[in-house]
Amino acid sequence: MSADRTEVLARLAAEPSTFDYEGEKNFFNEAVSQVHPYEWLDDDMRLWIPGFPESLEDKLILDIGAGEALQGILLCERYSPKHFVALELVPQRLFAASKRANELDALSVLAGDAYRTPFADATFDVVIGNGALHHMPEPEKVAHEVRRVLRPGGVFFGREPNFHNPAIRRRVLRSGDVSPNEWAVYPEEIKRSFGAEGFDVTIRLFWRRFPWVRGKHFAVSQAIEARLPGGSSS
Ligand SMILES: C[S@@+](CC[C@H](N)C(=O)[O-])C[C@H]1O[C@@H](n2cnc3c(N)ncnc32)[C@H](O)[C@@H]1O
Repeated sequence: MSADRTEVLARLAAEPSTFDYEGEKNFFNEAVSQVHPYEWLDDDMRLWIPGFPESLEDKLILDIGAGEALQGILLCERYSPKHFVALELVPQRLFAASKRANELDALSVLAGDAYRTPFADATFDVVIGNGALHHMPEPEKVAHEVRRVLRPGGVFFGREPNFHNPAIRRRVLRSGDVSPNEWAVYPEEIKRSFGAEGFDVTIRLFWRRFPWVRGKHFAVSQAIEARLPGGSSS
């Protein structure tokens, strides 16, 4: 790692975090006591995870900002990841999922912070994040941590709102219904922060209901594929 990069990371680590932990926990304060319907996610995940479900077969997967861990439940019920770890900051969001994790060998749920995960370097084949990055206003730190826990050749698949679309920007960030950490994460910012960690980043804009709509100001979502060099491709 270059001296410059070491300095930047040392500074980031030393800086007080702008992330409001209490605010996020208060925003998502409802205990989730039952697993909500999740079958629709099978089609949904195909929209932002290239090659789903084959690209996740036999892979060790981390989901950051996993919420109710619905993607993990679906994947472990229908398909065969090697193991799926759903990491979520707010423990009460994982109540119902933790019961399912007792029944599904391939699923673990864990309360923890995506900025500082408890995993060893180069642990995972794949990291996913659905609607996670726009709740994490320090993308350099997330990108750094994702890079650290991914093995060489590993990949991050994400989906975020497309904040270039003014209607989406208004809807997601409308006052009164946002966590204090929500922010407009533009594709350019994702490319910059993940690119700085050595990822090769591709961002595709799409609209779930009208897949042919891809215009910068009309598409609803951004699908992120950030791949590390090295290893065999996943
Ligand atoms: C918009 S929700 C998305 C939830 C889930 N991925 C889904 O697809 O429904 C964002 C989630 O990120 C979680 N989160 C926010 N900051 C986090 C952090 N620093 N570490 C782990 N999870 C975090 C929130 O608690 C929330 O559950």
